Amino acid sequence: MTAASAVDLEVTIGAVRLPNPVIAAAGTFGYGTEFAGLLDVSMIGAVGVKGLSLAPARGKPPPRLVESPAGMLNAIGLQNIGVEAFLRDRLPVLHAAGARVVANFWGDSAEEFAACAARLDGAPGIVALELNASSPNRPEWGGILATDPAALAAIVRAVRPRVRLPLWVKLSPNVGDVTVVGRAAEAEGADALSAINTLRGLAIDLDGRRPRLASGSGGLSGPAIKPVALYMVRALAQAVRIPVVGIGGIRSGEDALEFLCAGARAVQVGTATFYDPRAPVRIAGEVAAWCSNHGVRAVTEVIGSLQTEGRA
Ligand SMILES: Cc1cc2nc3c(=O)[nH]c(=O)nc-3n(C[C@H](O)[C@H](O)[C@H](O)COP(=O)(O)O)c2cc1C
Repeated sequence: MTAASAVDLEVTIGAVRLPNPVIAAAGTFGYGTEFAGLLDVSMIGAVGVKGLSLAPARGKPPPRLVESPAGMLNAIGLQNIGVEAFLRDRLPVLHAAGARVVANFWGDSAEEFAACAARLDGAPGIVALELNASSPNRPEWGGILATDPAALAAIVRAVRPRVRLPLWVKLSPNVGDVTVVGRAAEAEGADALSAINTLRGLAIDLDGRRPRLASGSGGLSGPAIKPVALYMVRALAQAVRIPVVGIGGIRSGEDALEFLCAGARAVQVGTATFYDPRAPVRIAGEVAAWCSNHGVRAVTEVIGSLQTEGRA
């Protein structure tokens, strides 16, 4: 047994118990099944799957991914196989492989959100449902739903009574004060907040004098957004009583630990898997190694440990 393997990495996010705090972020890890030959999905804290809707969705036309300094812009447009195909063809494979699944889902109305969540609720292998009203790539919504506290509250209110599984609500950073939206979701019964989704952005092809993404704008992710995400996670952890899951630009164990230090109970890793498909497992190992090297026996000791004395 190595010193790092002696570190207790287990975390709880409300009723959800995970063997380590690193989750694969929705939309960046497919349905998990694509990674079968590359890693053991049971070693990931949990697998977040691509945002699911009642009917399959085609997404937006290409080009829909563009690199930018320290990050990338995407305008996938929530393409997915639909909840029925997921339950039939993908979830059983993930469950048999020992994965704990966070099912990300969306709809075009509060009723669609609720119906999709109800369909996923209780399916073997799913440990939590993650409500995504925070994508910047669904123009059909007429904006980002999760930027309006009343609109988000109405969706959570519709979903909550229809599901028994823990309901995580994913927040948008495209707001003035993320705690207002976070509190609105908490008041309607959200069990946890996931923060953050991507920041709306634009990349320009100067020669062509046009946007580089076919959809015009997209969502910025990767290390470029990490300071924004850390700030928002910290603010949310101070503002709400429910757990916060930190997301945004994490590419190393130290990045993950910074989010825990800021108050997150777990983290999600997205863009980093594009250049290192094993990133969630590697990062969990790096978290253990850091803890071991710093005399930390349980990763939970780091959660919310940020010291701000003299830094106000
Ligand atoms: C290509 C791509 C697709 C995404 N699809 C979804 C999605 O379906 N649902 C969702 O809630 N977030 C989605 N996201 C947002 C990520 O889950 C995550 O919140 C964001 O990328 C920030 O984390 P990162 O910097 O580690 O990538 C997507 C991000 C990317 C890059």
